[in-house]
Amino acid sequence: MKFFVDTAELSDIRELAATGLVDGVTTNPSLVAKSGRDFIDVVKEICEVVAGPVSAEVTATDFHGMVREGQKLAKIAPNVTVKVPLTVDGLKACKALTGEGAMVNVTLCFSPSQAILAAKAGATFVSPFVGRLDDVSGDGMSLIAEICEIYANYPDFRTEVLVASIRHPLHVVEAAKIGADVATLPPKVLRQMFQHPLTDKGLAAFLADWEKTGQRILGGEAEDQKRGQA
Ligand code: G3P
Repeated sequence: MKFFVDTAELSDIRELAATGLVDGVTTNPSLVAKSGRDFIDVVKEICEVVAGPVSAEVTATDFHGMVREGQKLAKIAPNVTVKVPLTVDGLKACKALTGEGAMVNVTLCFSPSQAILAAKAGATFVSPFVGRLDDVSGDGMSLIAEICEIYANYPDFRTEVLVASIRHPLHVVEAAKIGADVATLPPKVLRQMFQHPLTDKGLAAFLADWEKTGQRILGGEAEDQKRGQA
């Protein structure tokens, strides 16, 4: 399963990319607005930090406008993935942009029928929003399961299922059980995934016991030489 981070905050991206666990980044107009940064500048900088796909969303709503914006965004860096909304014009733009060799992420997917259309339009990624469905008493994870099941029936569908609008680590676990290709995680959720109180407790106990032995693994040259390990 690939992990993308869902943010336009460079400090978060740099910190999390340093773990070696980040395969890409997704942004959207709301996240760019929250960053307070210039859109083109921030996408360029993210692409310098992360080698994998970096989603940058168009804001035009008509076909020609989306294609022109998408072409401009795709020129920022080879790893830019143009993000288009799941509308008629968005899917037409998806087809045109992928035909020109660009990667395209079709966003705002809320139903299996929309996901079928995205795959037929040649999307590189489709982004079903699990959290926003859960928010309105829907079942975001059932949508992921349905899309994965449908795509598995058609090997010519190359679209990867990118689970978006993730709210907590269990969303990631459930998506992984289903076999979704990618999860895009808010930085907070990726940090939460590392945490377990028994890890902290266990480590503290190991270190306290180790301290009692008075030993050191990196014990210095003299000790290593005594063992013939210098
Ligand atoms: O980037 C798309 C998606 O991940 C947004 O999530 O939390 O605004 O529903 P959220």
